[in-house]
Amino acid sequence: MEFLILHGPNLNLLGQREPEVYGSLTLDDINDRIKEHALARSVTVRIQQSNHEGVLIDTLHIARNWAGGVVMNPGAYTHTSIALRDAIASIDLPVVEVHLSNIHARESFRHRSMLAAVCLGQICGFGWRSYILGMDALLGHLGLL
Ligand code: DQA
Repeated sequence: MEFLILHGPNLNLLGQREPEVYGSLTLDDINDRIKEHALARSVTVRIQQSNHEGVLIDTLHIARNWAGGVVMNPGAYTHTSIALRDAIASIDLPVVEVHLSNIHARESFRHRSMLAAVCLGQICGFGWRSYILGMDALLGHLGLL
């Protein structure tokens, strides 16, 4: 089983970016934990990050050809992007939306996700563990856990 782990805008700055909100781990640190968990679950992961909406959309389209599911932190595009929502709705893949922070406990503009309704579900507020929970949610959905 292969999963796409997709990080959206500004997540490349984790570790330096608002550590009081997002924690002190860098994206590489988080990716190491994701890979470690994938190994333990016998899943292969391809991990990508982009700051560009169109690149994220292209990456989702390409994932149709190889991935069994997607764990995605869409960053701020969560709250704005109908194009990403349409991309998720267009691909026949289970997508789990994840966030490091609890978006529902933050500014009101973060409470709404344009994407959650077309995702399998949303996991937020557990820091880097949101990705781990997202992977397990996919495995459970696919009957592999
Ligand atoms: C985030 C939450 C978003 O509201 C924000 O724009 C981000 C990060 C999170 O992981 O908590 O960039 O997706």
